[in-house]
Formats: sequence, C-alpha cells, structure tokens
Amino acid sequence: MRRRSVGAVLLVTLVVVALLFENGKANREGEALAAFKEALVDPNGVLDSWDPSLVNPCTWFRVTCNSDDFVMRIDLENASLRGRLVPHLASLRHLQYLELNNNLLSGSIPRELGELKELISLDLYDNYLTGTIPDTLSELNSLRFLRLNSNLLSGSIPESLTCLSNLKVIDFSDNNLSGRVPSDGSFARMSSKSFQRNSGLCGPSVGREC
Ligand SMILES: *[C@@H]1O[C@H](CO)[C@@H](O)[C@H](O)[C@H]1NC(C)=O
Ligand SMILES: *[C@@H]1O[C@H](CO)[C@@H](O)[C@H](O)[C@H]1NC(C)=O
Repeated sequence: MRRRSVGAVLLVTLVVVALLFENGKANREGEALAAFKEALVDPNGVLDSWDPSLVNPCTWFRVTCNSDDFVMRIDLENASLRGRLVPHLASLRHLQYLELNNNLLSGSIPRELGELKELISLDLYDNYLTGTIPDTLSELNSLRFLRLNSNLLSGSIPESLTCLSNLKVIDFSDNNLSGRVPSDGSFARMSSKSFQRNSGLCGPSVGREC
C-alpha cells in the first residue's frame, strides 16, 4: 500500500514536470515571437493572430511548426512591416526558414541569429537594414539560401562565410558593401551577380582590382 502511494506520487510528479517542460518550451518560442511583434509596426494587421496567451505559436498566421510543435518557418515576406529584427529570434532553435523579404525593416542584423543552427534560408532582401553582415552567420552550417540584397548594409563581407559548405545561393547585391569579395570555399561557386551594385567591393569576383 505504502509502496503504491509512493509510486503514485512519483508518477504525478513526473507528469507535472513533463507538463511544465512542455509549457516552458512552447512559451519560450511564443515569447520570442511576441518580442519580435513588439518591435514591429504592422499597418495591415498581418500579426493580429499572434496571441502569446495561446499555448504555443503553432496556430499563428504565417508561423509553421514541425510535428514536435517547434517553430520551423516564419513567412512574413511582403507584409509592409516596419521596425527591427530582435535578438530573441535566436530562441527559435528549430527554425529553418526566416522569410522577411520585401518589408520596410531597418536597424541591424542581430549577431544572435548565428545561433539558429537549423536555418536553411535567411531571406532579408528588399528592406532598409543597416550595419554590417555579422560574422556569426558563418555558424549557420545548414544554410543554403542567404539573400541580403537591396538593403543598406556596409562594411566588408566576412571571410568566414566561405566555410558554409551548403550554400547554394547568396545575394548581397545593391548594398553599400566594401572590401575584397571572398572567393574561396562555397564562394567559388557564386557569380558576380551576387555582389553587383556595391560601390566599394573589389577582387576577381567583381572584376575590380583591390
Ligand atoms: C506584395 O503584396 C501586394 C499586395 O499586398 C501584391 O500586390 C504584390 O504583388 C506582392 N508583391 C510580391 C513581390 O509578392
Ligand atoms: C557606405 O559605407 C561607408 C563605409 O564603408 C560609409 O562611410 C557611408 O556612410 C555608407 N553610406 C551609406 C549611404 O550608408
């Protein structure tokens, strides 16, 4: 009898701990996205369904989760969003697609985005982003698509990005980048189009001497 009740208490404790863990996970992702929403101006109400009081963000419009209820995609391209990217996005550890192109986003690209180890596609093109390309993006080993074109980015292209062996497409055109374009590693496969219309870039990839 005694042993059975100890067993029951243990079982209840395990269930409670498991539920707390589930909630903690779900809330963390919902909170990260809520922090992003806070940093945005959303004139068309695209984010109206983003309600952090829900158990997880998996039912939110333009958010897609995997079968374990982790956020896998954010599809917010062409949504007239103003505002900034926030470091909180780095909490979305299973994010594969971050599609934010064709908006009015400003400010810099957070270094923390380098923590998104499963990211396949980072599409930030056609915005008003400033600052430099963070060298932490070289930690995104799953990355295949890196499109940062048509922004106001300046500084040089981090040499470390050439280590991203899965890169299929990079587009850094139409920015204010300068310095030598790396040509090793995955960059050897890229055409000069990926770098065009940056007044300060040089090197064999763009046909201008440094
Ligand atoms: C962007 O959205 C508008 C409607 O809001 C649509 O007319 C336009 O074709 C879209 N552009 C792209 C590039 O998707
Ligand atoms: C372009 O980058 C240079 C530094 O490389 C900076 O001095 C200049 O202000 C930038 N221009 C714009 C329009 O951002």
